[in-house]
Amino acid sequence: MVSRICDSTWNEQIRLTSYFKSTRSRKLPLNIVPVDIDLSGHRKSYEKRTLLESEVSENPMQQFRIWYHDAEESGGVEEANAVTLSTLGIDGYPKGRVVLLKRYTHEGFIFFTNYLSEKGRAITTDPRVCLSFFWPTLERQVIIKGIAEKIAENLSDGYFESRPEGSKLSAVVSEQSSVIASREELERKLKGLEQKYEGQEIPRPKHWGGFLVRPQEIEFWQGRPDRLHDRLRYQLQPNFDWKLERLAP
Ligand SMILES: Cc1cc2nc3c(=O)[nH]c(=O)nc-3n(C[C@H](O)[C@H](O)[C@H](O)COP(=O)(O)O)c2cc1C
Repeated sequence: MVSRICDSTWNEQIRLTSYFKSTRSRKLPLNIVPVDIDLSGHRKSYEKRTLLESEVSENPMQQFRIWYHDAEESGGVEEANAVTLSTLGIDGYPKGRVVLLKRYTHEGFIFFTNYLSEKGRAITTDPRVCLSFFWPTLERQVIIKGIAEKIAENLSDGYFESRPEGSKLSAVVSEQSSVIASREELERKLKGLEQKYEGQEIPRPKHWGGFLVRPQEIEFWQGRPDRLHDRLRYQLQPNFDWKLERLAP
């Protein structure tokens, strides 16, 4: 693993921190509405289910399968496969953003993205990632720490081929995470590509494909009354068994 934060990054942090300290006391311009919204009264009691050692599978992927099925089938969760992917950025900051889980197997969790995007570059530098699902209607959360790796090219080809034409073209046209001049420029480039590929197969860009996250740790969280939640954590052992432990809420 590389050392993530070099001295110059730290110096930059210190410089920014003192800048914000010095501006915080300044008066807001008149055209800015001050923002200060109190959410402390938002309070929900979690009462629906329990999570007990006696109820769960020995294997966390089996347990995930049960919970994922509940999320899809019990209704109320609109995109059960939407998951927050957190990476360790090249700039030293952690960053989370939503991606769509497209497959899970006994090996781990697969999503697709642009390998040259901010997340793609972050993973290339440090493959340690976190995936977190929140299924509000079930009052459940699953947090997965794991190691991401690119999947085989033929698997990325297979998934890319299954995508609708518009999504394929978007993957080709978008230099994901880079600054662009305008929406118009993006749409102009897209029109050009539509003409170029009219009546032809759109090839998968080499920098677009899947990542497999191999889990090292999976935590299942079930909301309970009075914030006394259930948390069960599986950790992968050197002999590839999973150790199950209860965590304090
Ligand atoms: C519901 C939802 C699903 C998304 N699915 C994906 C996805 O599967 N792959 C992807 O690269 N970005 C997806 N995005 C966009 C990402 O959240 C993010 O904006 C994009 O990947 C760029 O992130 P980055 O600049 O940190 O690399 C999705 C966003 C939302 C809200």
